[in-house]
Amino acid sequence: MKNLIVANWKMNPNSQKEAKEIFSALGGPASGWDGSNVEVVICPPFVYVSALARLSDEALSVGGQNVFYEDNGAFTGEISSAMLKDLGAEYVIIGHSERRKYFGETDETVNKKIKKALEAGLKIIFCIGETAEERDAGRKNEVLERQIKIGLKDVSTNYSLLTTNLSVAYEPVWAIGTGNNCSVEETKESIDFIKKFVKLETRILYGGSVKSENSGAYIKEAGANGLLVGGASLNAEEFIKIVKSAE
Ligand code: PGA
Repeated sequence: MKNLIVANWKMNPNSQKEAKEIFSALGGPASGWDGSNVEVVICPPFVYVSALARLSDEALSVGGQNVFYEDNGAFTGEISSAMLKDLGAEYVIIGHSERRKYFGETDETVNKKIKKALEAGLKIIFCIGETAEERDAGRKNEVLERQIKIGLKDVSTNYSLLTTNLSVAYEPVWAIGTGNNCSVEETKESIDFIKKFVKLETRILYGGSVKSENSGAYIKEAGANGLLVGGASLNAEEFIKIVKSAE
């Protein structure tokens, strides 16, 4: 099982030209990896998926940051899994905490999205994680268990052949974009806890203020099978260092 490094560009950068420049700086021989030891996925805003998918290769693939759970119809502003796949995306992030916080995503809608995206042949990066309040109240494990059980309801039974297409990203909400990354010890505890609820072949990633200085330890010491990288993924030089730390 190769480690999986996912770049979440969020609502960045501001132009397609810039998106292509960053993407090109990450690919090719200059980057120093060829996809044989590590899988790297760039998740840009939807509007850049097609252009970047045309530049993608064995070492670098493309994913979306969200998707809707219906196939088509009167859902203004939404995009289906089949549409995303048709643009050349291989992966999709589902249930990111920013979607849960700002766009009303619930464990139930996350579950519908995961099932639809698996049906469409997309690979899933399913995000879970507790808020600071939940952690302080000693409710972390309870929250993770609920998010996994509802988010993956019927997935492991009805979609068992596809579980290798599922990765779980543990992203403590308090660690995202704050510079306050989760300690290796605490991450290990959470990863070990999450493992109880998923199949052996499901990769578990860590995300939340990952930088090249801390990235290797999540893989080597906390037992993560990859990383979900936000801010640091827009800087090609820094992101390449992160990928190399996971090889
Ligand atoms: P960050 O974001 O690396 O900027 O903390 C991670 C994420 O939101 O996936």
